[in-house]
Amino acid sequence: MKHDPHPLPVIEVRALRKTFTLHLRDGVQLPVLDGLDLEVFAGECVALVGASGRGKSTLMKCLHGNYGCEAGEIHLRAGGREHCLTTAAPRTVQALRRESVSYVSQFLRAVPRVSALDVVAERALEAQWARTPPPTDDDPLDDRRFEAQVRQAREQAAALLARLRLPESLWPLPPATFSGGEQQRVNIARGFILPTPVLLLDEPTASLDAANRQVVVELIREARQRGAAIVGIFHDEEVRDAVATRQIAF
Ligand SMILES: Nc1ncnc2c1ncn2[C@@H]1O[C@H](COP(=O)(O)OP(=O)(O)OP(=O)(O)O)[C@@H](O)[C@H]1O
Ligand SMILES: [Mg+2]
Repeated sequence: MKHDPHPLPVIEVRALRKTFTLHLRDGVQLPVLDGLDLEVFAGECVALVGASGRGKSTLMKCLHGNYGCEAGEIHLRAGGREHCLTTAAPRTVQALRRESVSYVSQFLRAVPRVSALDVVAERALEAQWARTPPPTDDDPLDDRRFEAQVRQAREQAAALLARLRLPESLWPLPPATFSGGEQQRVNIARGFILPTPVLLLDEPTASLDAANRQVVVELIREARQRGAAIVGIFHDEEVRDAVATRQIAF
């Protein structure tokens, strides 16, 4: 691969401002981010450090396109293209999330009746299917190809769940009733199954024991090595020191 002596950041935030307006509380305004700048390059893991309520998770949600902002810009460089997340059409934001930005929130949004294995595998399949051209008369989407894709994604999901020590007996069950740490490991597996250029981690190890924390540290290091640009919130200082290349004070 050609080495670029002047790489551009994968994530570039300029003068970001985010204020919450509480319409049900007489329009009270909560200014959370004001003039925030941030650059994250491929292979970096930037840790956001600061007291509770400073806006760390809010920034993550802005980077994931969940929250809009009043001023400033967020640029993402992924798949050889640059996108301005703050002005992109909803379709583009959706495509970026599907293929380029992985987000591990602290809590899993459990979908009823979907097994833990498929919660993880689906993430890989959705990205794959979005890239697959629609079937034509000459090339109908045949069942065998479809089944092979599902099988491969499930194998990848199983490998990650095994690495994260989720008991195999839980894989066929929907995660809604899992313990906090079990749900978090499903969430982490879902966040890491696709090798996306951007990875957002909001306290990924909060409810994990030491052995599982170590697995997550290894997964983050591997993601850095493959060139992911990572932004993370790690309250556990040992984890932060083990993975972060730089810290930003909030
Ligand atoms: N959806 C929302 N609507 C209104 N206010 C919000 C919303 N989300 C966050 N806030 C407020 O914005 C501020 C920042 O919240 P945020 O969750 O970003 O903090 P944080 O730095 O991640 O804190 P912690 O370390 O406790 O997770 C808080 O005062 C919170 O009350
Ligand atoms: Mg938070």
